[in-house]
Amino acid sequence: MQVRIAPSKALGGAIRLPGDKSISHRYAILSAIAEGTSTLKNFSSGADPHSSLGCMQSLGVEVEKGEGEVKVHGRGLRGLRAPEGQLDAGNSGSTIRMLSGILAGQPFSSTIFGDESLSRRPMKRIMTPLQQMGARIDAVDGTYPPITIHGTRDLQAMDYHTPVASAQVKSCVLFAGLSCNGETSVTEPVRTRDHSEIALREFGADIRTEGLTTTVAGGKELQARELYVPGDLSGAAFFLVAALMSGDASVILYDVGVNPSRTALIDFLVGGGGQVKVLDVRSSGGELVGDLQVRNSPFQGGVIEKGMTAALIDEIPVLAVLGATSENGLTVRDASELRVKETDRIATVAENLRRMGIEIETAADGFHIPGKQTFRAAEVDSFGDHRIGMAFAVAGLVAQGGETIVNEAEAASVSFPEFFATLESIRA
Ligand code: S3P
Repeated sequence: MQVRIAPSKALGGAIRLPGDKSISHRYAILSAIAEGTSTLKNFSSGADPHSSLGCMQSLGVEVEKGEGEVKVHGRGLRGLRAPEGQLDAGNSGSTIRMLSGILAGQPFSSTIFGDESLSRRPMKRIMTPLQQMGARIDAVDGTYPPITIHGTRDLQAMDYHTPVASAQVKSCVLFAGLSCNGETSVTEPVRTRDHSEIALREFGADIRTEGLTTTVAGGKELQARELYVPGDLSGAAFFLVAALMSGDASVILYDVGVNPSRTALIDFLVGGGGQVKVLDVRSSGGELVGDLQVRNSPFQGGVIEKGMTAALIDEIPVLAVLGATSENGLTVRDASELRVKETDRIATVAENLRRMGIEIETAADGFHIPGKQTFRAAEVDSFGDHRIGMAFAVAGLVAQGGETIVNEAEAASVSFPEFFATLESIRA
């Protein structure tokens, strides 16, 4: 699908985001292994969290999808059934990596596969700890999907120090720890999003975090919950950037997740002069939720490196767009993880920026984009990557010389099926 984006001088109005993708995955998986029926309100409309639900259904869990909510009839950690066929994770790295932790403790074998993009993403990072815990896992070339997990009821608790700053790896090991006797801990190199820790606590697990180490106790049954999924801050990022870059904008985003392990985005925008306010913060299911107000404002640009890179990793494509129009440009370092996302996001960001007449220098683990540049309307591509498609639709709003065409725009539906309609709704 091609979407044409006309430039826009002004943006205004109020919007809601789909339920957070990260939180929806965790609720899908944990409610399925809890005892009883969970109700998940504002569950993400994105294809990725529905891949997690689909896999749980293939493992014998009944799921009822209603308007804006999902009911999951949990079967308990020991109630999952061996799947009849292979489990389809679609485009979703979160599904394959986090679900593997659950499957490692099951007394059956299961194979998880995904689409072409997922088939190129590394799984060794989760295979290593799960193998040390006693699961046998096969993968293509030792790392690529499809992966086959030969689970065991005799999974051994462990203390794992992960070399990769990855919430998916951390979550995988903690979820595996639920099936073990004794305590399993994960120590990470820098702090990553803590939605799994919060969700585990909500579902009744014994879990604690001290410094960079999180420990979960095995053997305790989880209990069903009624939970609300906050709006997706990573989806909000596209509208925050669009409004900041616009000639005249005032936009409100209601009920957005503002978990402190995700709000580096807001800190970075505000630190560079962006007028973004977080209003009316409240708590829901252990997660913080607030309304965001954003106005057009000049942005200084800046440097994203070290721990901040991990905290902002999903927002870097759209921040690259903002960086090009900023005063001083944007430098990103320590971001080799971008190379193994849904696409090689250093390459796909650079390709689209260049098509739009923007200069960028790339490195193995980052890039530099000089500031004060002007976007030229062009034909760009999502390359099948939701965040690339949405980031360059935002670039189209400020491009000169006509409409920008986004090819393969349907990729947005992985996290945000309503993205283009929402964008149209705030054109003043
Ligand atoms: C996610 C963690 C991040 C992020 C992804 C979602 C999660 O991946 O990029 O979109 O929900 O835990 P990594 O754990 O690979 O860094």
